[in-house]
Amino acid sequence: EQIEKGGYEHFMLKEIYEQPSVIKDTYRGRLHANEGIIQMSGVEDNLEKFMNAERIIIIACGTSWHAGLVAEYVFEEFTRIPVEVEYASEFRYRNPIITAKDVVIAISQSGETADTMAAIKLAKEKGAFVYGVCNVVGSSISRETHAGSHTHAGPEIGVASTKAFTTQITVLTMIALRLAKAKGTMSNTDFHRYLLELELIPEKVKEALDTNDKAKEIAAVFKNSNNCLYLGRGYNFPVALEGALKLKEISYIHAEGYPAAEMKHGPIALIDKYMPVVVIAPKLGHYDKIVSNIQEIKSRSGIIIAVVTKGDTQVRELADYVIEIPETSDALSPLITTIPLQLLSYHIAVMRGCNVDQPRNLAKSVTVE
Ligand code: G6P
Repeated sequence: EQIEKGGYEHFMLKEIYEQPSVIKDTYRGRLHANEGIIQMSGVEDNLEKFMNAERIIIIACGTSWHAGLVAEYVFEEFTRIPVEVEYASEFRYRNPIITAKDVVIAISQSGETADTMAAIKLAKEKGAFVYGVCNVVGSSISRETHAGSHTHAGPEIGVASTKAFTTQITVLTMIALRLAKAKGTMSNTDFHRYLLELELIPEKVKEALDTNDKAKEIAAVFKNSNNCLYLGRGYNFPVALEGALKLKEISYIHAEGYPAAEMKHGPIALIDKYMPVVVIAPKLGHYDKIVSNIQEIKSRSGIIIAVVTKGDTQVRELADYVIEIPETSDALSPLITTIPLQLLSYHIAVMRGCNVDQPRNLAKSVTVE
């Protein structure tokens, strides 16, 4: 097992550090930035189906569901196709409206999640075209879906999903870009810019991994917290949910993710000087809005841990702790902002003496209802 961990203390840390290379593996052979081409055989073979889709329904569970939420923002922005994201467990039991004009995308790391599988079968029965985004080749979901694109994250051992999440977002972003090109919903300039930028993501993730020491330092301060709030807006709202999920899964600290502006409709009541609030505040996004959210937290004595773009000065003045990440466009930022949040949860869990790779009560793959 020590050999499998490749010198890392835990699988989770190893998998966090693998992200630059597995993101590259995931786009290799599919993304040709200089030529301005994105090609994924599953999409090419079924381009008509995607082009005629009146709606895309994304079904998944857990972290994969969070990747689906990021994809909702990306697909709607890039392709203008309406998207709905559903928990597979809810979808399957609510007599959902699905027709042959819908494309269903099922996301699953393991490809074995029972609820996702049942939702796929239901969608197929109702005539929808079902596309899989799975990590495990030959898994039940890969086989059950009409077509799909694999993520190439390699085996994920840590129960808390890390590299599967970022590679899922990579695949989904590439599908959205391919469709945007086919539909003409994105200018050529933007299309090329995104391709070039996507190609640079592994380098930027590598840079974001340099926040490890900072994350460790912050973890030491907050390791005994009972609660933690994660806030983000737009593309980074799902990242806030994922950051909170990671923390509760492995450290057993109660954490909630929220859209930053929605805070005033509830969580703001919880804010006091004992409440750490992680705010995802990259420069490109709804920056001014998030700055005012930070001011609201500050005026209630909340402790602010902000994830900001390198060189940021405005948030730095307000926040108690800052974690700097490299700049990326808003739509691709979840691939970067996620990294320090994974590291923060990891270090907090280690400092609390938790079983990071196998947290209590959780399973890597939930094959029963
Ligand atoms: C379990 C795992 C999570 C995962 C979820 C969905 O809860 O612990 O890490 O996100 O299942 O799994 P899937 O394999 O379908 O992505």
